[in-house]
Amino acid sequence: MNYLQAFILMLSVLWLSAVAESSNIKNIELKRTLLGHGFHRDLITRLTLPPGIRASLSKPQCTLLLIETLPSGVYADPYQLNSLKLFGGSQILFDSPVNVENAEFLSRSHELYIFVNVSDHFTKDSTNHTEIDVRFPIHARYHKPSPDKTHATVTILHPSLYSNCSESDVTSSITAPCDLSNTSICDWVPLTYLSTSTPLTLYVPVGQESHKPIVILVTLLVSITVSALLVKVMWISQTAKHDKHS
Ligand SMILES: *[C@@H]1O[C@H](CO)[C@@H](O)[C@H](O)[C@H]1NC(C)=O
Ligand SMILES: *[C@@H]1O[C@H](CO)[C@@H](O)[C@H](O)[C@H]1NC(C)=O
Ligand SMILES: *[C@@H]1O[C@H](CO)[C@@H](O)[C@H](O)[C@H]1NC(C)=O
Ligand SMILES: *[C@@H]1O[C@H](CO)[C@@H](O)[C@H](O)[C@H]1NC(C)=O
Repeated sequence: MNYLQAFILMLSVLWLSAVAESSNIKNIELKRTLLGHGFHRDLITRLTLPPGIRASLSKPQCTLLLIETLPSGVYADPYQLNSLKLFGGSQILFDSPVNVENAEFLSRSHELYIFVNVSDHFTKDSTNHTEIDVRFPIHARYHKPSPDKTHATVTILHPSLYSNCSESDVTSSITAPCDLSNTSICDWVPLTYLSTSTPLTLYVPVGQESHKPIVILVTLLVSITVSALLVKVMWISQTAKHDKHS
């Protein structure tokens, strides 16, 4: 997604929020939260479905799809998500392999396809709204040391939302994998939602370029000391052996 698209998306979300407040229409709501501190966070997406929309989406054969774009500054770990799935975690498919070790400037953004079965979620509160929480861990990537900045900013835009059982509108539907197995491709119809939160921002600590010489010096000193110690130990055991033989 380029900046223009992102900007238009943000504008339309803001515009929709304004419309919602003025006329109190009943629509799907989306709220995003980032839990934790530092490099390892939990990304939570809460969808709130009003009763009418829920009824039309909770047929057993109906699935919601969230398409999440994670920018190069963060990643989700496929192995971690796979193990969480065994404990009831989200059904998430990756669009490409993820290198979990690369730094930010060597990485590209990646997309996650998140499949949600509405029937699995029950109405909780007295307003008859259904809340669906999609939660998974994300990790910040290391950024290139900078001469002046102490932090880099990573912005995570809102996901797009689709369903495979809404009124089909051929012009706007997209094709994406049908399910986690990625063995077939289906048509997905976009659903609009109102967002009650702005796109998420992470502040990632950045190494200071001015600290580089001292870091290199310390690393070098430690390596030399350790090597010297190793040589000494080997020397002692060698001489001990020689003494025994003679
Ligand atoms: C969704 O969940 C319901 C109830 O758990 C189940 O009957 C249905 O088959 C599920 N649908 C899909 C597409 O997995
Ligand atoms: C899904 O399948 C398509 C076509 O076989 C392939 O190009 C794509 O990489 C697959 N995606 C994932 C996440 O495995
Ligand atoms: C919630 O649903 C129940 C049963 O369908 C209904 O009796 C009740 O009036 C609803 N509450 C609201 C706030 O709409
Ligand atoms: C929606 O997708 C699920 C799998 O994700 C599939 O089981 C179901 O049959 C699909 N429903 C329709 C109406 O195509």
